[in-house]
Amino acid sequence: MINFLNKAPFIEDTNLNDILKICQTPFYLYSQDAIVQKVEKTKKILGNNIFFSVKSNSNQAILKLMQSLDLGADVVSIGELKRSLSAGFDPNKIIFEGVGKSQEDLLYAIQNKIRLINTESLEEIKLLQILANEKNNKINIGVRLNPNIDGDTISKISTGKKTDKFGIEIDDIHSIIDLVKSSPNLNLISISCHIGSQISKIAVYKNTFKEMKKAADKFVDAGIRIKHVDLGGGFHVQYQDEDPNFLIEDVKKELDICFSDSNYDLSFEPGRYLIAEAGILITSIINLKQNGGINYLIVDAGMNTLVRPAMYNAYHKIKSINNKSQKQFTYSVAGPICESSDIFQKNVKLPEQSIGDILVIEDVGAYGKVMSSNYNTRLLPSEILVNRDSFAIIYSSDRIEELIDKDIIPSWL
Ligand code: LLP
Repeated sequence: MINFLNKAPFIEDTNLNDILKICQTPFYLYSQDAIVQKVEKTKKILGNNIFFSVKSNSNQAILKLMQSLDLGADVVSIGELKRSLSAGFDPNKIIFEGVGKSQEDLLYAIQNKIRLINTESLEEIKLLQILANEKNNKINIGVRLNPNIDGDTISKISTGKKTDKFGIEIDDIHSIIDLVKSSPNLNLISISCHIGSQISKIAVYKNTFKEMKKAADKFVDAGIRIKHVDLGGGFHVQYQDEDPNFLIEDVKKELDICFSDSNYDLSFEPGRYLIAEAGILITSIINLKQNGGINYLIVDAGMNTLVRPAMYNAYHKIKSINNKSQKQFTYSVAGPICESSDIFQKNVKLPEQSIGDILVIEDVGAYGKVMSSNYNTRLLPSEILVNRDSFAIIYSSDRIEELIDKDIIPSWL
């Protein structure tokens, strides 16, 4: 995402050094153009029924941009629902899912007349039945099915197997049908699934589409008029050169084959695919040290800023800005947090680095800032959006004092 022009680092037409003058590291930086390009490409291939998975990046500015590009929003909490409404999404373009919605969450969604509540258990359907009856209102619902398909991805981000907590088992379709038929105020119009994230194998998509088509037909045969089939997110992003070369065009081919003889309105809810590559994390080197023959670069971003390497062993390319030497050195890039897992990457080859130099951690636009924390009483990182030769701070980091002030010491201490 960074281009060098006369040795100066540029994102679009903005010089990173100008941003560094006013914003303290670590911070996330997004390229508006990269987001727009990816969204437009995805829409061109998969059509206009794309609901951005808000959990991947929920900054209001990003949501506003996604909304202006005509995407819908896929939310999994009342917080994300409120964020999406406040960023300007039409309620009719918001889908609410999640395995743990409270009665209060459901009521809020009903009051705001969102497009769909995707239920994830028979109990949740029963609760909605009670709420709809109380209000004497007809409510559109969807069901998230669990098709019992192994996404063949990192186990921590796999969600489509029978033993995972998500969705309603596909074998329970008859119970869903019975329940919905006995609830005149519930209008079941959609089925959905999401079998996991970072899915590269086309065979997995093919199996999922087949199962979902079969399931939709079963509902229709039972007299339930399913209009929408939502096929989830999960599209793969190439974080390193060795990663499989996933093509969204191949997904589209399978989609066309599988649904050629049907009229369902097909939709997707990607997060990572739309925004991961449009974000970078800018961090400063605050210390250099050698332990056990390893050259450590200690940077000011930590696992509290970007947790993916520590949590999933995820790989993110690391690049340097100050390329002072031709010679490459081997470094381990680590954060300042007091945990051994606070390492971004071992054996990174970089030109010689010094304290104060800037490193760039790539492809962090999805599941970066949203998963950051205040662990070790450190601040959440700021966020910047670049648009050609302009940039704006879209999230401004707190002050440490504000964090401390949130604690309340009871009177007996
Ligand atoms: N729909 C549902 C119901 C989901 O649970 C998810 C992600 C998505 C859509 C979007 O998936 P995507 O297109 O972004 O793969 N924190 C992990 C990723 C967790 C994804 C959870 N669900 C990571 O950093 O890799």
